[in-house]
Amino acid sequence: MSTDAKPRHAIGHAIKRKEDPRFVQGKGHYVDDVTLPGMLYLSLVRSPYPHAEIKRIDISDALKIPGVKAVITGADLEAAGLGWLPTFHGFDKQMVLAIGKVLFQYQEVAAVFAETRAAAADGAEAVQVEYEPLPAVSDPFTAKKDEVILRPDREAKTNHIFHWEVGDRDGADRALEKSARRVKQRIWFQRCHPAPLEPCACVAHFDTMGRLQFHVTSQAPHVYRTALAIVTGIPEDKIHVMAPDIGGGFGNKVPVYPGYVCAIVGALKLGRPVKWVETRTENLTSTGFARDYHMDVELGASPDGRLTAMKVSTTADHGAFDAAADPTKYPAGMFGIVTGSYQVPVAHAEVDAYFTNKAPGGIAYRCSFRVTEASYAIERAMDILADDLGIDAAELRRRNFIAKDQFPYASALGFTYDSGDYEQTLTKALETIGYQDLLKEQAEKRARGELMGIGLSTFTEVVGAGPSKHFDILGIKMFDSAEIRIHPTGAGIVRTGTKSQGQGHETTWAQIVAEELGLDPQTIMVEEGDTDTAPYGLGTYASRSTPTAGAAIAMAARRIREKARKIAAHLLEVGEGDVEWKDYKFQITGVPTKSVTMKEVAFAAYTNPGQNEPGLEATHYYDPPNMTFPSGAYVAVVDIDRETGEVKVRRFLAVDDCGTVINPLVVEGQIHGGLTEGFAIAFMQEIQYDHEGNNLNTNFTDYLIPTALETPHWETAKTVTPSPHHPIGAKGVGESPNVGSPAAFVNAVIDALSPLGVRHIDMPITRDKVWRAIRGAQAVSVG
Ligand code: CDP
Repeated sequence: MSTDAKPRHAIGHAIKRKEDPRFVQGKGHYVDDVTLPGMLYLSLVRSPYPHAEIKRIDISDALKIPGVKAVITGADLEAAGLGWLPTFHGFDKQMVLAIGKVLFQYQEVAAVFAETRAAAADGAEAVQVEYEPLPAVSDPFTAKKDEVILRPDREAKTNHIFHWEVGDRDGADRALEKSARRVKQRIWFQRCHPAPLEPCACVAHFDTMGRLQFHVTSQAPHVYRTALAIVTGIPEDKIHVMAPDIGGGFGNKVPVYPGYVCAIVGALKLGRPVKWVETRTENLTSTGFARDYHMDVELGASPDGRLTAMKVSTTADHGAFDAAADPTKYPAGMFGIVTGSYQVPVAHAEVDAYFTNKAPGGIAYRCSFRVTEASYAIERAMDILADDLGIDAAELRRRNFIAKDQFPYASALGFTYDSGDYEQTLTKALETIGYQDLLKEQAEKRARGELMGIGLSTFTEVVGAGPSKHFDILGIKMFDSAEIRIHPTGAGIVRTGTKSQGQGHETTWAQIVAEELGLDPQTIMVEEGDTDTAPYGLGTYASRSTPTAGAAIAMAARRIREKARKIAAHLLEVGEGDVEWKDYKFQITGVPTKSVTMKEVAFAAYTNPGQNEPGLEATHYYDPPNMTFPSGAYVAVVDIDRETGEVKVRRFLAVDDCGTVINPLVVEGQIHGGLTEGFAIAFMQEIQYDHEGNNLNTNFTDYLIPTALETPHWETAKTVTPSPHHPIGAKGVGESPNVGSPAAFVNAVIDALSPLGVRHIDMPITRDKVWRAIRGAQAVSVG
């Protein structure tokens, strides 16, 4: 028998895959690289008005433009029964092209198909649309008054979309009344946008068999296939969705957008492939908005800072259609995580959502469905409470942490946290950053009138949707899947229902297989995003891939190992019960010299399986028993220039706990990226609308993306508290830095300004806002 070297121990190693285009994102091809013979280009006519009646659409000039082949309008689509598209959330529908009226600026009004991109754009310019402007509603507080009803197509004649609540309202009220201290603050998480490098794009094509070949920037290819079958009536077996390399998704590429439906309709009508690639302005104005939660947060506490109760009442701006990509039973996503890392005896949270004349919003931008908003609310509120009580912000958190021996912990708002050790993570963060020295330095600086701030965020997330008894999208349960095939030479392929957009699944999925089967991760191919080959899954967003597909891979690999054990017994000429899996190979129990490797078993599976069924492959659909609850302790240190209001992030440390780490290098990359996004949200980014509903941030000169010049240096560290229910103990991590960091930045700024009496500033914390806060405080102190 073989004495092959022990296979590489994969999990926990910062391995890199070979420079192979199959494995390395960014070396493959993107939707815009797909070019097919006879391909037409789609350009969309968009409304300049936020709210208007459409009186007339004249396409005759457009059709005269050389190269323009066809123009379709909302009326054409409605006549074909394709006027409306169900939103993922399932409770609303969205116009594909405007029918009767437009409801937000840049809404899709007509679709132009032409031989070239330029001709399509010229054609779109030439479509004449006569609008009669209507009063626009650009904030949810005005919408609440129902003076203008935005959606007469709906039965309920109100702008109110839903009321959702969880917890004990009366109990929280009573506990707050009895509390020695109460703090209350309205906290707005502004509307922002994931702004991936690659905007949304698709190529639709019906092949000679009449089968739709759909290349698309989708984070959830299988859900697209099902949704397209429902919307278009094309049988699902006649739809092939392919998501090639994706230049960033962050939630922007979860919903099905009107451009996709138009491209398919054009391909069907004209019998030619159709490509649609969003422009940057289209991306920023019409697809994938996030947040826009106005949260009234109230905390009660004892004089020594023990939390007694929490209440949060949120007014949410969902834009013109309720297109939030949330699980069906959770219209406000996982907002119930708003009690955070703390023991809150009684709590109540409610969300009321409203239509406004804005682009449809509410996608989970690097966020497990409203976790970012919830986390920001509690972490800001904890600092406000600490300030009110005169207790150090770290100490207040320690006094209220769920202790490590309290897990599994049932929160007041209905989650069962799987595991955590918040005290350890915070301690590590404070020691690593040198908290005591920073406090000393701050005291000295304050004495000199300098503005230095230290901000903490000790957040807990809920990721990995999810247990099928609770979570579905369009009725489809939110499990995920993996299929593994081991070839005769011990190389293999793993396919999952998730779809990496830069998260490195090509590396980490191979590592899980390698760990479970004792094979070389470099010889395990990873393939995702092709609905003809991958098992059905719900896709990649909300840091769900590792908790769901990652678990499915481990389980499928274990199935393979069980079958391999039988073949190993045959090779070792003993009974199956006498074979043990040890040191990444099968050996006769207690006789390490008598062993076979998985590679040898794989060869035998196809050449000499004995009485066993030939072949070595398995599929697993993993239905997680619970969500995973990653956590972290982040510390930001800022200096503020009193004269200009400029904030300099001097240091930022992120200590993350995502359970078992599969690949430290990949995790580090995830954290760097998410912190950079969190930094941008905290200081630079807001999709603003004026009071008439005009979008003021339609390109990257108005919606700022941080460059290497602005981005702070990130320091990282970790603690490891495995998830008890995940097969390898891993929790999700991708969104943690985006979820946890905004509060740390804002807390640091407010801490710096607190000697001036500043208690809160809404994000983005621009230089202008800080300068005004300083000036306002000076005016107060002078006057
Ligand atoms: O769903 P998504 O891939 O965006 O998020 P994730 O599950 O948090 O994983 C992001 C990347 O980090 C993947 O390549 C994971 O396999 C990797 N990861 C890891 O190496 N160890 C963990 N404990 C969690 C994630």
